[in-house]
Amino acid sequence: MKVIIDSAENIAAMAAQQYVNLLKRKPNAILGGATGSTPLGLYAELVRLNKAGEISFKDASSFNLDEYVGLDGSHDQSYRYFMDHNLFDHIDIDKSRTRVPSGIDTSDPAAYDKEIAAAGGVDLQLLGIGNNGHIGFNEPGTPFGSLTHIVELTESTREANKRFFASIDEVPTHAVTMGVKTVMQARSIILMAIGPAKAPIMKAMLQGPVTENVPASVLQLHPDVTVYMDYEAAKLL
Ligand code: F6R
Repeated sequence: MKVIIDSAENIAAMAAQQYVNLLKRKPNAILGGATGSTPLGLYAELVRLNKAGEISFKDASSFNLDEYVGLDGSHDQSYRYFMDHNLFDHIDIDKSRTRVPSGIDTSDPAAYDKEIAAAGGVDLQLLGIGNNGHIGFNEPGTPFGSLTHIVELTESTREANKRFFASIDEVPTHAVTMGVKTVMQARSIILMAIGPAKAPIMKAMLQGPVTENVPASVLQLHPDVTVYMDYEAAKLL
């Protein structure tokens, strides 16, 4: 695992460079997307590079990590809406090749894994990390062998995400997420962490044991992970 510690601005630029390199080498790469506050700087940089002609997504595809159950893509808190507004609508990607798990048709979540496999597998998966160590919405205790599935969100995750909703009652109780195994099948992974609230979990993820109680710790077992952290997220290492 490669660990890079720098300012939030610099880690966004460095992570973006990984996308530039990948898409130069493999223009039809399959990208794994994440939502949340953490990737916003990276996405802004990808938009800038795309507009400057330094990167093209025109032959790329994407599979996002997760979606709230019960929200369709027109809901402004859905992850489909987030991806469209923060990235896809501003770059030259073919939107028909961007996928986000459906929060409405949740009859066969693991079909998402089959779609990913049929497309050739994710080349570069982006991850944030929850304060409790979740990746995607794989909360502590999720089996490392899990595929895409429905999860009940923990109170701590609903609490952390209520800032985006009018009240906690409006935060969905369930989500559909790629499983830990789905994530681990990506050929390369970037995990980003920004801010002091992430410091304790970054220490646990990087310096603690590999355990299902800290889902992100599984990344210690992956052969190609780059962790980008700002100084505040790294302050307990
Ligand atoms: C989002 C996702 C989550 C977030 C995590 C951190 O698609 O899968 O695991 O990455 O909750 O969220 P932020 O970046 O808002 O701190």
